[in-house]
Amino acid sequence: MMTLDEARALDAADPFAMHRARFAIPDGVIYLDGNSLGALPRATIDTARDTVAHQWGDRLIRSWGEGWMDAPARIGAKIAALIGAKSNEVIVADSTSTNLFKLIVAGLRHDPTRTVVVSEAGNFPTDLHIAEGAVACVPGTTLNAVPRDQLADAIDDRTALVLLTHVHYKTAERFDMAAWTARAHDAGALICWDLSHSAGAVPVDLGDADCAVGCGYKFLNGGPGAPAYLMVAERHQADWANPISGWMGHAAPFAFTDPYEPGHGMERWRSGTPAMLAMNALESGIDEMAGIDMTALFAKSAALFDSLAAQGDAIGLECVSPREPASRGSHIGFRHPRAREIVDALIERGVIGDFRDPDIMRFGLTPLYLSHEDIVRAGEIIAQTVADFPRD
Ligand SMILES: Cc1ncc(COP(=O)(O)O)c(C=O)c1O
Repeated sequence: MMTLDEARALDAADPFAMHRARFAIPDGVIYLDGNSLGALPRATIDTARDTVAHQWGDRLIRSWGEGWMDAPARIGAKIAALIGAKSNEVIVADSTSTNLFKLIVAGLRHDPTRTVVVSEAGNFPTDLHIAEGAVACVPGTTLNAVPRDQLADAIDDRTALVLLTHVHYKTAERFDMAAWTARAHDAGALICWDLSHSAGAVPVDLGDADCAVGCGYKFLNGGPGAPAYLMVAERHQADWANPISGWMGHAAPFAFTDPYEPGHGMERWRSGTPAMLAMNALESGIDEMAGIDMTALFAKSAALFDSLAAQGDAIGLECVSPREPASRGSHIGFRHPRAREIVDALIERGVIGDFRDPDIMRFGLTPLYLSHEDIVRAGEIIAQTVADFPRD
């Protein structure tokens, strides 16, 4: 198990250490929930003030021509750099759920001879709920959600779209993106990746993937309910249609014509007016990631994981996350029958993680702003707290 001195020595040599001061983390809090709601970048406080007081207050409607209208594509290009997509393949819009709906319907219409969406049972609920809603909107199509070990067999010549979440929200298990994209393509199917739990902490290379979605409020630090993003590979952009065909995705929104004509490239994936207060906060969060080598950042996440996993082992906690770094994301899950009570008590003691039904304690390991010392200290408090809640 790592000692405090060892942790401090690692912090002294940490190439990301200077990022911590850029985040407003309250005194007395060890924040292990950046995989759910990322911490507040200090710069966002000024961005939000400027957006309200200057861009909205002073510039009023003129701001649409002074950066607001371009924000979805501009921020999309910054996200593209983090997920191995081209700058013209990503746009920011709506929520992850809404973007999933758009892409699943588009994917089902791509080849009408294929009628099944294949996904993983136990995927994040919204992915399955939205898929259920999307197949109900495209006659003759169905959803087949199967356990992970049956996925390969479920993908066949009836599969229209494989819908997978890169990093699992409970266990942090990570799919091999290149291998599963190839598996879908070998069967003639499309693949859509949900990157909500990976982008910003885990190296992502969408490679040949057809499409993807992700949220802005976890490791991208965009703020509560931040707008989400979607990616459509360039090769599909001319043919795929956005089923939520709103005026902002029109080729000429300000021509105010009755018939809908889809916009060029990713512009058609906009539906309504972008929420600029949230958009600007998201951009500020993403700017914190500019120029960061995601492989090096994830190496730090892996070291934080090993430190907390060792503490868990020492007190006999069952770790549900893979030990092999390439097989997991940037959080760690432990199983305990009294997980809910322990997580509540930990929050009282300043260690903020979360509980996932029925028995998982989940701790986010955000490598950008957590120190090795944080993890050693959190491990000690977790050990004391677990001891306070005997199993029977
Ligand atoms: C994998 C995944 N997809 C989607 C979402 C949330 O979707 P939305 O942003 O629409 O609430 C989450 C939220 O935790 C998630 O973990």
